[in-house]
Amino acid sequence: MGPEALRVAGLKERLQAHAIDVHDLGNLSGPSNPWLPPVDGYRHLAEVAHWNRQVHEAVYASLARGHLPIMLGGDHCLGIGSVSAVARHCRAQGLKLRVLWLDAHADFNTSAITPSGNIHGMPVACLCGHGPAELVNIGDVVPAISPKVIRQVGIRSVDAGEKRFVHQQDLEVFDMRYIDEMGMRHAMELALATLDDKTHLHVSFDVDFLDPDIAPGVATTVPGGPTYREAQLCMEMIADTGRLASLDVVELNPAFDLRNKTAELAVDLIESLFGKSTLMRK
Ligand code: ARG
Ligand code: MN
Ligand code: MN
Ligand code: MN
Repeated sequence: MGPEALRVAGLKERLQAHAIDVHDLGNLSGPSNPWLPPVDGYRHLAEVAHWNRQVHEAVYASLARGHLPIMLGGDHCLGIGSVSAVARHCRAQGLKLRVLWLDAHADFNTSAITPSGNIHGMPVACLCGHGPAELVNIGDVVPAISPKVIRQVGIRSVDAGEKRFVHQQDLEVFDMRYIDEMGMRHAMELALATLDDKTHLHVSFDVDFLDPDIAPGVATTVPGGPTYREAQLCMEMIADTGRLASLDVVELNPAFDLRNKTAELAVDLIESLFGKSTLMRK
């Protein structure tokens, strides 16, 4: 339902209004949700692997055509297929990679430490090589990426075992405490530091990054997220780098939304990510 809600909210039209050429390639197809309990620490592993293989191929093909893919989820587990394709593209093109993970959660669980078995809580770990073969092997090499290329922003919910693993793997996290003390501007300056014209910037935007007061349309809300203003600044600062080359928009769940307001907010923020600004840029 997420992609459809973003279409209804006018994602394509709003980007076209900025003279961006937009092709909606439609939905990928895959198995439906079996609604089963986890097996060996993973819920729906076979289905998640199937979907991620589709996402990987679609994102890789889009990049190979020279396009900027926007992957509409769906769950954040789809970041495995998307980011692994981006990493493969970077290797093929000799580009550096920076992944900005905008999220309330670190999504760095493994089957041994997950409290839920939900794979949407594991994509960052899988991309870094910690996960089941079905997911870890989706790209061209294992691990698909190094933790060093990741910058997480907005984090405010990390499970106990996950916390230790984030620390052990030395993920660079700008959590809400950091944003409270230093401000979104400073967090983003650091998260976006050292990008150059050979760097591919991928943004993985989990809509639960946003404060639930403005973005109720997600399943895993966590209070105390970025406000509307902070989120706008975050997107504008990314746009200013001119390096945005691929995007995930995930976890939007219209069943929890109010008259599509979260989808409309997401579209509004995506417009800023693609360079909408109040005045002419100097
Ligand atoms: N940390 C929790 C878990 O592993 C929640 C993860 C939420 N992730 C997400 N993409 N919504 O179950
Ligand atoms: Mn999810
Ligand atoms: Mn997430
Ligand atoms: Mn999340």
